[in-house]
Amino acid sequence: MAWKTLDDMDLNGKVALVRVDINVPIEEGQVTDDTRIQKIVPTVKDIIAAGGKPVLLAHFGRPKGQVVPALSLEMLVPALSNALGLPVKFASNCIGGPAKTAVSELKTGEVLLLENTRFHAGEEKNDRELSASMAALGEVYVNDAFSAAHRAHASTVGIAEILPSCAGRLMAAELKALEAALGAPERPVTAVVGGAKVSTKLELLGNLVTKVDNLIIGGGMANTFLVAQGIDVGKSLAEHDMAETAREILAKAKDSGCVIVLPSDVVVAREFKAGAASDVVAADACPSDAMILDAGPKSVEQVSAIFEASKTLIWNGPLGAFEIEPFDVATNAAAARAAALTVEGKLISVAGGGDTVAALNKAGAAKDFTYISTAGGAFLEWMEGKELPGVAALSA
Ligand code: 3PG
Repeated sequence: MAWKTLDDMDLNGKVALVRVDINVPIEEGQVTDDTRIQKIVPTVKDIIAAGGKPVLLAHFGRPKGQVVPALSLEMLVPALSNALGLPVKFASNCIGGPAKTAVSELKTGEVLLLENTRFHAGEEKNDRELSASMAALGEVYVNDAFSAAHRAHASTVGIAEILPSCAGRLMAAELKALEAALGAPERPVTAVVGGAKVSTKLELLGNLVTKVDNLIIGGGMANTFLVAQGIDVGKSLAEHDMAETAREILAKAKDSGCVIVLPSDVVVAREFKAGAASDVVAADACPSDAMILDAGPKSVEQVSAIFEASKTLIWNGPLGAFEIEPFDVATNAAAARAAALTVEGKLISVAGGGDTVAALNKAGAAKDFTYISTAGGAFLEWMEGKELPGVAALSA
């Protein structure tokens, strides 16, 4: 798919409406992780450098079409201004009088942030009238919100159909990295998919087995695959009613020439708490009163060997219960190996989606991966092979 970038647009003297995703975690009014804010800085600065005036459109939380003061974007003005090193103005509505006045008063070198688009019910309905009201504020539309591109909303899709549109720097970087990992990757390609449940990642697993050479399954969902092979997993988290589905995925993988890798040994414990006494046993020898909480050392060796033989790695989900020590060992060790191979120039490593970034950060490995996506749900939908409406709307 082809899309335009900032370099293809004439921005001089123009108001650029920039859809960003600054849906960042906040505790007691303070931003606890400003990664998403930092990542939009190049786009905003490049628009200003090209003579344009950036006007930011964004959602925050899920106010469901109501004005919810606790979800006002105004609280992000200091963090934005700090990250950009520029004055950031704020308008109390993303359409109408307040927005029009703020846009007309915006000076070159300043940035304007408009209030939460989801305060309007039309946002999530991709309402034409709302898109048109937002589009009327500017002359060019820049989508830099890959992580919201799985939503067909007025500010992600509707506006793109009205104004000349392009991808921002972050959107372009995400699309390039993801294309390198699953579109036209260097082979062999290995995917790591972990997490609690097969049921939440069915489509993702079904798509991956047709695209990758090795699929390493970890976390609770590996237990479901063990169950599918007739293995007793004791008190482990497993979806027994998904065993048949897991067998279908195994069969599909076989037909597609994808090797599915399950743990050969596991770490078991009787309690799920930090520092609980644990043992390493073969994957088919979980005691009936114990639960599997991590992959074992032999499994980690096997995973490392597969990474070493791979050219591309795509990672979503931890291998064990990484939030609680000592059940973070397999995730940390595998992440460290992937990071080292990446630094040595032997592996292209891309990771994203919810817990994954937290797990790789905790392992100290994230900074050495080739690309860490800022996306949660959008990354998963992309791994499922779905077309993301926000990306499709940029199609040149
Ligand atoms: C995210 O945090 O993944 C995006 O901002 C999308 O948010 P949503 O799931 O509320 O649409």
